[in-house]
Amino acid sequence: MQITSVVNQKGGVGKTSLSVGAAAALAEQGRRVLLVDLDPQGHATTEFLGLPEAPNGRPSLPMALSKMWKGPVEELVVPHQRCNVGRGGCLDVVPTAPGMFDLVRRLDQFRIPGWELARVLQFANYDHVIIDCPPALDLLTNNALAATHGVIVPVQPDRTSVRALRLLREQIGHLEELINRPPVLYYGLVPGLYRRPMTGYAEAAMRELHAMGIQVLPHIPTGVVVNEAASRGLPVTTFAPHSTQASAMHQIAQVLEGYRRRAPAADVPTPSDEFVFEDFITDVAGARNRNDTGARKGLYDLMPKRTRR
Ligand SMILES: Nc1ncnc2c1ncn2[C@@H]1O[C@H](COP(=O)(O)OP(=O)(O)OP(=O)(O)O)[C@@H](O)[C@H]1O
Ligand SMILES: [Mg+2]
Repeated sequence: MQITSVVNQKGGVGKTSLSVGAAAALAEQGRRVLLVDLDPQGHATTEFLGLPEAPNGRPSLPMALSKMWKGPVEELVVPHQRCNVGRGGCLDVVPTAPGMFDLVRRLDQFRIPGWELARVLQFANYDHVIIDCPPALDLLTNNALAATHGVIVPVQPDRTSVRALRLLREQIGHLEELINRPPVLYYGLVPGLYRRPMTGYAEAAMRELHAMGIQVLPHIPTGVVVNEAASRGLPVTTFAPHSTQASAMHQIAQVLEGYRRRAPAADVPTPSDEFVFEDFITDVAGARNRNDTGARKGLYDLMPKRTRR
C-alpha cells in the first residue's frame, strides 16, 4: 500500500481536484484506492464527490484521530459507487465529519503530534491511499506527512508558489527530523490553474519551480469541465473521460502507480514507535494498581528522556 499526500499550504491551488482526480484515475485503472478527506473544509467529500459528511454519532475520522473511537478503518469508509472503476478496483472515501475543525485544537494536546493518522491507516488494505490535505502547515498536515510515503504538490506558476514550496520543503525536513522518519519522497509538482498563453511572469515562476529539482508532472489545464464534474459529484475522469484534464489525471495516476511498483512502500515507521503520553499514564496507573514495581520501572525505562540543558 502506497500512501500519497496531496499537499500545499497555499490555498486554492487545486489540491482537492487533484486528489479526487488522481484517486479516481487509479481506481479506473483497476487499483484499490482509499481517498482520505483530511481537510476540515470537506470539499473532497461534499463538493467534489457529492457524498454526505459522516453523520453525528457514527464512527468518524475526527473520532478516530482523537482516539475517541478505535475501530478498524473500514468502518469509516464510504464507497463512491458512481465512477467508472476498473476491474478489481474501487474508490473508497474516508469522508469529512462535523468534528474536523475542532480536532486541530484537541490534537494539540498530544505531547508528540504526528502519528494519529498513521495509526488509523495502519491496517488499511488498499493499493493506494490518497490524502487531501488542508491549506495549512498544521497538525493535520503533519499527520499526513508522518504517515505518507510521498507527496504530490499542485502549484501555480506564481512567485508565491515558489516561496510556498520552499516553506513546505522546510516543514517536511523539520518533521522528518522531529519524528525520525525516512525521507518523504517528492513524486512531483503538478502545475495548474493558469491561463494560456502563459505570461512572461508565469514563465519565469515556472522556470524557478523547475529549478527546484522536483519532477514536474503533466499540468492540469484550467477548464469548466472540472467544476461541471464536481457539481454532479463525479470525478472529472468519469464525467469527461476524453477531456485533457482526465488525460492528465491518468498520466499522474500512472506516475504514482510506477512508484508503487518500483518500490513496494514499506519503510514508513509504524505508529508503534510512537510515545503517546496518554497511553503511558494509563499504563502507569494500571501498574500502580497492581503494585507492580517491576512493571513501573519498565514503563519508566520506556519514557523518552530529555537531556538537561
Ligand atoms: N483544472 C481546473 N480547471 C478549472 N477549475 C479548477 C481546476 N482545478 C480546480 N479548479 C477549481 O478551483 C478551485 C480551487 O480548487 P481546489 O479546491 O481543488 O483547490 P485546493 O488547493 O484544494 O483549495 P483549498 O486550499 O481551499 O483546499 C475550485 O473551485 C475548483 O473547482
Ligand atoms: Mg482543498
